[in-house]
Formats: sequence, C-alpha cells, structure tokens
Amino acid sequence: MSVDLRARLDVLRAELRRHNDLYYLDESPEIPDADYDNLVREAEQIEAQHPEWVVANSPTQQVSGAVSATFSPVRHRAQMMSLDNAMNEGELQAWGDRVARGLGLFVSEARYVCELKIDGLAISLRYENGVFVQAATRGDGRVGEDVTANVATLHSVPKTIPKPAPEVLEVRGEIYMPLQAFKELNDRQRANDDRLYVNPRNSAAGSLRQKDAGVTASRNLAMWCYQLGETVGAPSFSDHSQTLTWLGSLGFAVNPEIRPVTTLDQVYEYCQHWQAHRHDLPYEIDGVVVKLDQLAMREQLGVTSKAPKWAIAFKFPPEEKMTRLKDIMVSIGRTGRATPFAVLEPVFVGGSTVGMSTLHNQDQVRAKDVRPGDIVIVRKAGDVIPEVVGPVLSERPDGLPVWEFPTTCPCPLGSTLHRNVGEADTRCVEPECPFQRDQRIIHFASRGAMDIEFLGERTVFMLSDKGIINDAADLYSVTAEQLLEFDGFGGTSVNNLLEAIEGSKTRPLMKLLVGLGIKHLGPAAAESFANTFGSLDAIMAAPAETLAAVDGIGMIIAESVARWFAQESNHAMVERLRTAGVQFDVVERSNLKPTLLGMAVVVTGGLEGFTREGAEEAIKARGGKSPGSVSKKTAAVVVGAEPGASKLTKAQELGVPILDEAAFVQLLETGELPNSTDADGNS
Ligand code: IVH
Repeated sequence: MSVDLRARLDVLRAELRRHNDLYYLDESPEIPDADYDNLVREAEQIEAQHPEWVVANSPTQQVSGAVSATFSPVRHRAQMMSLDNAMNEGELQAWGDRVARGLGLFVSEARYVCELKIDGLAISLRYENGVFVQAATRGDGRVGEDVTANVATLHSVPKTIPKPAPEVLEVRGEIYMPLQAFKELNDRQRANDDRLYVNPRNSAAGSLRQKDAGVTASRNLAMWCYQLGETVGAPSFSDHSQTLTWLGSLGFAVNPEIRPVTTLDQVYEYCQHWQAHRHDLPYEIDGVVVKLDQLAMREQLGVTSKAPKWAIAFKFPPEEKMTRLKDIMVSIGRTGRATPFAVLEPVFVGGSTVGMSTLHNQDQVRAKDVRPGDIVIVRKAGDVIPEVVGPVLSERPDGLPVWEFPTTCPCPLGSTLHRNVGEADTRCVEPECPFQRDQRIIHFASRGAMDIEFLGERTVFMLSDKGIINDAADLYSVTAEQLLEFDGFGGTSVNNLLEAIEGSKTRPLMKLLVGLGIKHLGPAAAESFANTFGSLDAIMAAPAETLAAVDGIGMIIAESVARWFAQESNHAMVERLRTAGVQFDVVERSNLKPTLLGMAVVVTGGLEGFTREGAEEAIKARGGKSPGSVSKKTAAVVVGAEPGASKLTKAQELGVPILDEAAFVQLLETGELPNSTDADGNS
C-alpha cells in the first residue's frame, strides 16, 4: 500500500514539474488550472500522511515557476511568494480560523483587504532614487528573469516617481493583458494565419518574455500593483491599505475594486460578488486574494516555505454550460496518436466560445459515455482548456448508439489504427501517414521549437497537399513562386513567411533539438544536451551511454535520442537541414551557469584571452556586472597588463580581491574567488 503511495507521489511530482514547465516556460499548459491544483492537493495529502517523504525540492514545497535561458537571472532580495488556495467557503473559514489561532488575543481586531486575483504574471519593479532600474519575473520565487526592457514599454509602469523618493523601492504586482488587447492580438494572429493564443494570461506571459521589446510594446500590456518588496528609506506604514494608497499617490496603478473589510462574512460577500460579475471586468480574474490589513499581525503570523500565512487566494470554481455534442472525431498527432475530440454546438462558457474539446483517449470517452447527439456539460476550468464533463442522461434521445472508436486513420491512406495492450493510446503506425507528417512539420515550426512566424497550420496543409513539403527540411526550399500560387498569398505575406523561414536557420541548438520531435526529449533535456555538447554533430556522434552521463538525463531519453539519429531517414533529413544552412551549434551565452549572479567584477588592463568587451560580456553572461569603477560593492578586480593605477589603488584601499587572468577564468567557471588572495597579496 505504502509502496503504491510512494510511487504515486513520484508520479505526481514528475507530472507537476512537467506541467510547471509547460505553463511557465512554454506558455502552453496542457491541463486546466483546477486539475493542476488537484494534483498539488493529492501530493500534499500523501506528504501529510508520510511526512518522512517530504523533501525541500518537492513541487508542493516550492514556488512554482521557471527561469528560462533567454533572460539574465535576477536574484530577488526578498522572496516572491505564492499563495495558498481556498476552493470554497469552508476553506476560507478554515483559513480565518488559522489566522485567529495564530493571532491569539488579537483576532477580533483583525481587518482584511480584499483584492481581485488578476490572471496574469507576477512582476517586481525596482526603483533606485526615484528611477525605474529593473523589472523581474517571479521565476521560482528566489531567482527571476530580467525583463526590464520589456516592462519599460508599459504605459502603466511609471519610469520615475516623485521626489523625495526612497533610495530603494521595490513594487510588486501583476502584468496582464486587457481583454480588448487580447482580442486585437488574436485578430492579428488570425489574419496572418499565425497561432492563436489560448487565453489572456498566456499571451501576457508570451508577450512579456520577448527578446525584442518592440514586440512587447505592440501588445498593450498593463499592470496592477498590489505589494511592496524591498525598501530602503521608504515611509513606514502600519496597514497594507495605507501602502496601497501611497503607491497610488506615486503614480502606480492600484486596482480600484480593492476593498478593506472587517469581517470574514464581508470577505465572502466580496468573493461571491466577483464570482458572479467576473466577466463584467475588462480583464480576467481567477479569484480573490484576501490579505490581513495590519502589517504587525502579518509579522506575527509569518510564512511557510512558499506562501504567507496572512493571505489566501479564494479560487473561483470552474464555469459550466450545457450544449449539444454534434460529433466525435479523431485527430492524428505527430507521433501517430489518435485523439478523440468533441465537436460541439458552439457555446459561450468562461468568457469565450467553445466549439471543440479534447476527449483524450478511448477510455475517457467510454468512462464518460458521451455519444454524438447527447446534450453534454462543458466546463472551462482555470480558463485554459474546455472540458466535456459528461452527458445529461435525462436529455438523451432514445436509442442513441454508443460511440465506437474508429478502426482506420482519417487520413487519405486510411491505414489501420492500433491500440497495444496496456496502453491508453490508440495509434496510427503507418510511417507514411500524411497527417503525422503534417503535424511533425507544424511541431518543428512551433513557438517552443524553430518558431517560424507566419507558418500557420493551414499553410503547412496546403504546401504538403501539393507535395511541396514532405518534411521539415523541405521548408527551406519553398519558393515565392510556389507560395504565390496559393489563395490568400500576396507579396507581403510571401515575404514575411520566407523571411521567417530564413530567420529560423539561426535558432539555438536547444530549439532545433526540440523541433526534431524526438520521443521523450522535452525542452529541459534538450537544453542540457545543447549546453553540454554545444553542437548537433557532437550529440549525433555520442553513444547512448555518453548521452546518459549528462546531468538530469536518464537512459530512456538517451536511448531514444540515439535511436532517432541512427534511423537512416532521420539522418538524411538532418543532413538536408545542414545543406539548407540551418545552424547546428548556436548555444546562447546566457545559457551559461549564472555563477556571478549579482557580483560586480571590474576589469582593468589588457588580458590575453579576452578583449575588454569580451571579458565584460563573459561576466554579464554569467549574471554579473562589470562597472567602470571600483567601490565597496566590487567583488573582485581583474588586473591585466598596464592596469589603471586608480582602480588598482582603490582596490587595495578597500581590500577588494585582485585577480590575475587565470583566477578570473576560474571565477567565471565556479563563481568562487581563489583562496583568500586579498588586495595586499596575503594568502
Ligand atoms: S499577493 C505574498 N495579490 O497570484 C503575496 N497576488 O497565486 C503574493 N496575484 O504570484 C501575491 N493578483 O502572481 C497578490 N491581488 C493580488 C494578486 C496576486 C494576482 C497572483 C500573483 C501571485 C499568485 C499567487
């Protein structure tokens, strides 16, 4: 029994990590938030029964999030925490009771601030002496991503604050995409036959985490501020509500619906009101955040490893509607998996219209026993993916036949579908299946892979139907003449697409690896391979044992990769990608380990292995800074030939460690200063 539980916990942890990556790194969640919350709860329950299994790196103990390699890491001086959830009135009351117990005598004096839970992404803004200097995402709560240039494009973020300004002011809040902006964005995507964003939250995250801040600027993001982080020299307040008023007076956008209340009943009224009126707002919310108003009481209550005890998120339940199930069809994925999906009479639920919804696999359809012709309940949980909950049996017409899983692939070849014993999935195993081929190409071009903008699914289908493309490598020989033959293609759209295809040739190795669509090889493993081997050729040449030696890579992934490259047709396609000019060895410098996070390293004099800019870049690529002068805060001064006398003297005066080039290289690699060399050269 306990062995089963242990195994279940491992599965849950692995699943939670995978869903975290999908949500935070790929911005393409596979499951609704409510299902994710249920997985967390199940894991928490097992850990509560078996406290000896609790480990610090369990997803239940950490703020979920991820830091991608695209942006420089930023260490949060004060952790950015997550919130515990209350799913209903009882759980809200239970939180109130815990607060009361924690506060002892002071309970009757507790006041609350009710805020809308904005469905966006948490951001920290840093101001030094009144000037906006940095913006960072939450990341894992301790280290986030530097998105300063992107956030600087938001109108609702003040670039300066009125004098007298605190020396340091960190303001936290939520960046979100207003519904109008979301609609306009998807209208543009549709017009370009480009991928549609699933919801405003994902598009806010995607729009913010752009390499080109100009793209962020065009997306009309906004921000609500709701919390202070680190401050130096700021006025001190006794209540959260005072803090919010002050933030408003400095020019920060503070949500106008925030209400201070005095009883838990009033809190619940606020929750119910916004549950009923959530779609009246011009932006999305997924609940209410309740915070204790008095800051001294917050101190008294404290925090857990990931969330404050003085706040709770009241999550709205999923929204449901009824509609008719017109049909059940099957789609074929790039690995041949046949996924049944519901074709619905379009219905407006959870803020958008739903016309289709996945039914996952044969067993799910059987378990739900939904049949074409049924009236079904459709749920939009967490506003991500609509789900068919089940049939309304009282509405079922007499004699409605049970739906049978098709026995042949819907593609023109009509090959047989197989379901292996013990597996949940039914598959088309025909290697020539054109539907699989199209999906492989679509995957290659997708955002998480080679990111070929303007190459929508429709274009892939057209090109492949005409026999112009048979695999991803063929994309690189598509010509303007071929595209102009198609309806809807003109000079501009042809140019856009050809430029996007050309631009994809220099994508990082990690993206290329993801794009190849090798079984079991996800983005995290692809990144490890890219960082370790540095080129596709090195990965192709490595036997499975060598691949498995990479940190975090198991034999299953290693063997799958080795097997993929060993297959003649794959190898041939890779060679055609090479001939087309696709780069096989682009590894981003910011993928390097952030060994110098937050450290200031000054370089003076000529080095042999680095130009001046090269040395500064090497420092920055590892999360460090390279200022032009030496101060108390300088971690080390690297000295080459003919150093600047003033820098050297200053370093000696302040006792800042002085490094030669070899020690510098070591510092870059490890982040550690060589054993106690101080400014006087004493060891
Ligand atoms: S306060 C320590 N207030 O919800 C308190 N968070 O589930 C930290 N969120 O990471 C957050 N609206 O991204 C707070 N009014 C609000 C919020 C809010 C949305 C998000 C935020 C946070 C997440 C936690």
